Amino acid sequence: MTSPDPAPNAAALAELAARLPSLRLLTEPSDLEHYGRDWTRRWTPAPLAIAFPAAVEEVQAIIRWANEHGIALVPSGGRTGLSGGAVAAHGELVLSLERMNRVLGFDAIDRSLTVQAGITLQAAQEAARNHGLIYPVDFAARGSCSIGGNIATNAGGIRVIRYGNTREWIAGVKVVAGNGELLELNRGLIKNSSGYDLRHLTIGSEGTLGVVVEATLRLTDPPPPSQVMLLALPDMAALMQVFALFRARLKLQAFEFFTDVALRHVLAHGAQRAIDGDHSFYVVTEFDAADESAQDAALAAFEQGVNEGWIADGAIAQSEAQAAALWRLREGITESLAPHKPYKNDISLRIGALPAFLEEIQALLGREYPHFEVVWFGHIGDGNLHINVLKPAELADADFIAQCEHVTRLLAGVLQRHGGSISAEHGIGLVKKPYLEGTRSAAEIALMRGLKQVFDPRGVLNPGKLF
Ligand code: MLT
Ligand code: ZN
Repeated sequence: MTSPDPAPNAAALAELAARLPSLRLLTEPSDLEHYGRDWTRRWTPAPLAIAFPAAVEEVQAIIRWANEHGIALVPSGGRTGLSGGAVAAHGELVLSLERMNRVLGFDAIDRSLTVQAGITLQAAQEAARNHGLIYPVDFAARGSCSIGGNIATNAGGIRVIRYGNTREWIAGVKVVAGNGELLELNRGLIKNSSGYDLRHLTIGSEGTLGVVVEATLRLTDPPPPSQVMLLALPDMAALMQVFALFRARLKLQAFEFFTDVALRHVLAHGAQRAIDGDHSFYVVTEFDAADESAQDAALAAFEQGVNEGWIADGAIAQSEAQAAALWRLREGITESLAPHKPYKNDISLRIGALPAFLEEIQALLGREYPHFEVVWFGHIGDGNLHINVLKPAELADADFIAQCEHVTRLLAGVLQRHGGSISAEHGIGLVKKPYLEGTRSAAEIALMRGLKQVFDPRGVLNPGKLF
């Protein structure tokens, strides 16, 4: 798409600057490096420049300019993505939504918040809280990821078990399509049976169909007071039993797991140990505990788990600070693994399919990764596992990735047989592209390509991502 010869693109960039004199454009090497990458760190950033539009009209003008000059655009939020969806490594113009980060309005009757796409998840959550309500999508990157990026990947996180994914909370979205046309999708309506829901097509489309510029977020009541518990378990089978037990007895807000290997890394990164001894699996769970009967139910569930031999030990937070410390054990994992250049899996299965899948996959990974450290953690209550493989320091990046990709092909085959998905919440981007066919049928992919053509006829939006 983008011309390999930088000279015409430099001339096109000068033309953009002349066309939009107030547009902020950066071309310093350090900026190209910073804005050309996400958290994957696998590709060398090499964008043409970074553009920071301040208004929807500027986004439209940039997209029209890209069409005229045949220049690829990479829409960019907080770049906390883990699949390479926001990587610009081939002379693309990065279209950063960073300056479009305001709350545009709150509607008390509709209980909705309208925001620009560049606002961080945390700022949107705080704005909701200031009105006595919550925006319940939540995960560790809240302080840096943007709502636009959350929509582009249909982000999940740690509260999906109670509240669902981002998709459930988008009442309306404004998107600039690949031809520069502004689409106002669903207009905040609760009911709208008027044909195809284009809003849902754009959610999870990874910036390939349009650039999200505004969103109307649905808000809800804060949950009742909760308790946070850490559990230590002997094995994976116990994990599934404890999940079934706790889900049946308590109103769960979160149910997250990690292994002893994850714990070792997160403790080395500054988190505080809360349970002594060596245990293979851990769970951080949060549940409604407004009154004594709910707290008694939690203790009864815990005791039953102990009596059955599924729970080896536990700790319950007695204060907000202790709750935060228990959460840190789970939420700090990604950061603690980052120095080891992890190869990340983000797989999804129906919960009912998990036990058979897990048995097969534990054997496969044990066989295929005998020399690598493999870290299991994730949102087990949603059927979403993050299996991270750590790079041994002495192994070259390319060799490590080649070996991991070989195993991922096998993993994708097992997933396909068990009806799972190669990406639960991180998106396909560049990282998972080779495995899309194991998750989506040829007919589905052909339809997706057709939709791409309709929304973005000249292919300027995030080309090379997804497929
Ligand atoms: C998380 O849930 O912590 C992230 O989505 C997983 C990861 O870093 O692989
Ligand atoms: Zn996750």
